[in-house]
Amino acid sequence: MLKKLFLSVVLSCTLLGASADEGMWLPSLIGSRIKDMRKKGFRLTAEDVYSVNKASLKDAVVLFGGGCTGEYVSEEGLLLTNHHCGYGSIQQLSSVEHDYLTNGFWAKSRGEELPVPGLSVKRLVRMEDITERIAAGEKAQDIVAAARKEGYDAAVEQMYYGNQQFLFVYEIFRDVRLVGAPPSSIGKFGGDTDNWIWPRHTGDFSIFRVYADENNRPATYSKDNKPYRPARHFSISTKGVGEGDFTMIYGFPGNTQEYVISDAVKYVAEVSDPMKIALRTKRLDIISAEQAKSAEVRIAYAAVHASIANAWKKWQGEVLGLQRLGTVESKQAYEKKFAQWAQSKPEYASLLDSMRVAYKGVEQEYYIRELYSESVGTVSVFNFARTLSAAAGKEGATDESIKAQVAKFSADYNRTIDEQIAVEMLGEFLQRMPQERLPEGLKQDVESKGGAKAYVEWLYSATNLLSSDKITLQSVADDVMVTFAQRFNPIIENSRKYAYRNLSNVPSIEKWYRPYMRALREWDKNRAFYPDANLTLRVAYGSVAGYEYADAEYHHPVSTIDGIIAKDDPNIYDYNIPQSLRDIYAKKDYGRWGVDVNGRYSVPVCFLATNHTSGGNSGSPIINGRGELIGINFDRTWRSTMSDIEFDPSICRNISVDIRYVLFVIDRIGGAGYLIEEMDLK
Ligand code: ARG
Ligand code: GLU
Repeated sequence: MLKKLFLSVVLSCTLLGASADEGMWLPSLIGSRIKDMRKKGFRLTAEDVYSVNKASLKDAVVLFGGGCTGEYVSEEGLLLTNHHCGYGSIQQLSSVEHDYLTNGFWAKSRGEELPVPGLSVKRLVRMEDITERIAAGEKAQDIVAAARKEGYDAAVEQMYYGNQQFLFVYEIFRDVRLVGAPPSSIGKFGGDTDNWIWPRHTGDFSIFRVYADENNRPATYSKDNKPYRPARHFSISTKGVGEGDFTMIYGFPGNTQEYVISDAVKYVAEVSDPMKIALRTKRLDIISAEQAKSAEVRIAYAAVHASIANAWKKWQGEVLGLQRLGTVESKQAYEKKFAQWAQSKPEYASLLDSMRVAYKGVEQEYYIRELYSESVGTVSVFNFARTLSAAAGKEGATDESIKAQVAKFSADYNRTIDEQIAVEMLGEFLQRMPQERLPEGLKQDVESKGGAKAYVEWLYSATNLLSSDKITLQSVADDVMVTFAQRFNPIIENSRKYAYRNLSNVPSIEKWYRPYMRALREWDKNRAFYPDANLTLRVAYGSVAGYEYADAEYHHPVSTIDGIIAKDDPNIYDYNIPQSLRDIYAKKDYGRWGVDVNGRYSVPVCFLATNHTSGGNSGSPIINGRGELIGINFDRTWRSTMSDIEFDPSICRNISVDIRYVLFVIDRIGGAGYLIEEMDLK
């Protein structure tokens, strides 16, 4: 009896599950979710979230750089994002004398804020469903051009695989200045070791300020520019969060594919991810071994290592998550039911068959593209060979210009690492490629020299590409490294035809998703549909929540400074905190930031919530039911990462840095309390 009752509760929860936590909603259509949001603790209205008639929360959110989110926290353009999103800017402004990455940076006055050349932020001015206008014959480029005439940037984006078109109008600000950054030992605390992991203790934030002209409009850098006055900025809650509290995230998720059929999931889980993981494991092993031998190499390869490892770890979580959920099987079952329904609908009856045929036609090509770019395409010297041969073919090229390029490349070329990678990647490529698609004679040539290792050794001994003394303009075209690299040209050229975000976005497949999405929405009436992420502004909501990591192993949703101290180790690079933090901890000298966390006097550091997020949501504001900032999103747990394909509310969690830790670091570590004075603390 009890069991039965329990089952029916579980069942009704999962049936309603579509409305719980899953989903990345378009801000202009948030009205359709607002009832559910309010039921869960949101106190604001749809108009507060998004409005074109008055200032709304969307005016406080920006696309930061090419792929992160940021949020305004003062009426004078102060902007928060992640440390890992500001990393490139901080690095660019650093030098040996001013190592802001290591030591942090705090502008003591507006005059000390550092312009970041090349950095821009985008504010969404408005979004508009233009599906009907397009259907009536208007051209997307004309609509975009009209918006540009108003002085804005604009783009048309497809939703539901082109069933809906939206115009996005943006204001782009190009005078963005660095205001503050914690030392990496806080902003990157835990490094790659803790990346995608909970419990987490990373102070992953950095601070910028946007400047505008005297009319508060975007302008290129000028010392006369004034701090931008955003129509809306977030006030900050210092009251904190607890398990079960409502949370909403507002930001720019980059890429999800929730509606793909089982064939696409199979490709990701059984073909693509495993291949990429295996190849990256090899590259990481080579790099790590050399890093362990030399501090210089460790530093030089830190960023490369981090970026290879980031996706590598994510994919492992994704494969595991998809297997655990049985996504392929559940999608197959779903498709079976769909096919039964579609049988009697002439326009849909053969849809799934057409899709399967389309996948068969493209999958191998897409795989070859991914295989090349993850293997031979990662070898620096091969890529340089291609660059140099293009340069040599250009008008005006001289011996000097060629020698100069070679000298520049050789200066920071690590042959030990690159050669080992070349050997491994060439070997993997020869083995993993569909044999009939290998470049003509390649395998025979490699074998005739005794295999990949001997062949690569021979390439290095016979090339002049690493010697500015020997290389000449004349000799580039016949250099062995160049002719070798060029054998892959047909593969590279062919790959361009398949350069789409996902396999399912290749046009010959994607075209079937248009009717398929339409059919799904006709058939699966109870499903709450939201368009896949595509780096347009979205709202997701849920609550602060822990989860059961493993049998009997519950992970609590809030971490504290005590956890930082427990990990602290001066001998481990990723866990070596600043002495000032140790001193503060020793005296429990937390000032106004100390609070009671489950009976302990401490400072909260990070927290988990159930918001549906993806890459691009880094730096996104996490707000409470009153619309106040409570944290900055920066990661997911690695067991969540299949949420890009299937979201599981029981274990998918996003990770945010608690805004109170951000304030604590600004105040107690940075000594920059004056920045807090410009924020609205509640
Ligand atoms: N996993 C996060 C993301 O996908 C953070 C990456 C940066 N941090 C790092 N330790 N590599 O972007
Ligand atoms: N760190 C990711 C980013 O840079 C967010 C993590 C995720 O994929 O959810 O956007």
